[in-house]
Amino acid sequence: SQYQNGVKCLHENGISKVPSKYILPVLERPGITNHEQANVTKNNLKLPIIDFQELQGPNRPQVLQSLANACEQYGFFQLVNHDIPSDVISNMIEVGTKFFELPFEERAKYMSSDMRAPVRYGTSFNQNKDKVFCWRDFLKLLCHPLPDVLPHWPSSPVDIRNLAATYAKETKYLFLMLMEAIFESLGLVDSSAAKKKTTEEDEVLKEFEDGSQLMVVNCYPPCPEPDLTLGMPPHSDYGFLTLLLQDEVEGLQIQFQDKWVTVEPIANSFVVNVGDHLEIFSNGKYKSVLHRVLVNSRKDRISVASLHSLPFMRPVGPSPKLVDESNPRRYKETDFANFLEYISSREHNKKNFLESRK
Ligand code: SIN
Ligand code: FE2
Repeated sequence: SQYQNGVKCLHENGISKVPSKYILPVLERPGITNHEQANVTKNNLKLPIIDFQELQGPNRPQVLQSLANACEQYGFFQLVNHDIPSDVISNMIEVGTKFFELPFEERAKYMSSDMRAPVRYGTSFNQNKDKVFCWRDFLKLLCHPLPDVLPHWPSSPVDIRNLAATYAKETKYLFLMLMEAIFESLGLVDSSAAKKKTTEEDEVLKEFEDGSQLMVVNCYPPCPEPDLTLGMPPHSDYGFLTLLLQDEVEGLQIQFQDKWVTVEPIANSFVVNVGDHLEIFSNGKYKSVLHRVLVNSRKDRISVASLHSLPFMRPVGPSPKLVDESNPRRYKETDFANFLEYISSREHNKKNFLESRK
């Protein structure tokens, strides 16, 4: 149908009402979430802030404690003072924006329903299954192994391959540094110079270097009736960590203390969140939290999410060091094949993948 062409096209055609295909049942609309919130118009949240420079310095132990608290209580934090040059970030946002401005026929070349395709352009959340569509178009780029996937990435706009590859390498580096810190915060590895032998956990950390990486560029055009629909439905992220770049337009909401709260954008920072695999690996200590995206009637919004995990077919289960008599094992092992089976078998836009692993 016409809706398979996405929301950028609808917006360009100047529609003034949201087509019924996008209208959520009343109880799932963004304004109505639960009784307590019914009268609250706006609920903003400042996420815990992790300073990447400070993490590398003498205050590392304190920063690791803040990191642990953030992953336990919010499942989210904002990463500031990271090493990624600001032009790498602005170039990525700019070239992503330009991609969605290409003529539709050009973008449509990359449409695919194959989850393993190195490049996939599409709309909504899962356009082959969603009963109600969401107000979002996307470009997904597999990033590993980069030399193999790069030749399949779009060749226009000019420079997209270069700029996106640079961005992918930089976020991968940040991810690896963050995983080291996270393992340390879980008490799994020890960064002190005194340590002698390599542990099993050190080996897992090495595997991340060859791990999966998926980059998702999300485009949310202005929506004439933003109270009736969502840019993305409530979901949790597959993988260990997601590093999210959002522009200055707010829209991301996370579930915090049973309420939906809006994450305030901070320029030049990353919103980092715990994914399902890290929740499983940490045996439930760190939380993969539901989040969703609101749209608005005035401004385009662009975000770039980098999802990182272990190598694709590598099974993920609770770390043996985090399971003992007082902390019984809480999850079954999972792998990418389980995930594919899961998403093709049932409704999956709620947090039930994790439930199915228990
Ligand atoms: C996502 O949940 O992957 C995207 C969030 C956003 O666009 O802010
Ligand atoms: Fe997400």
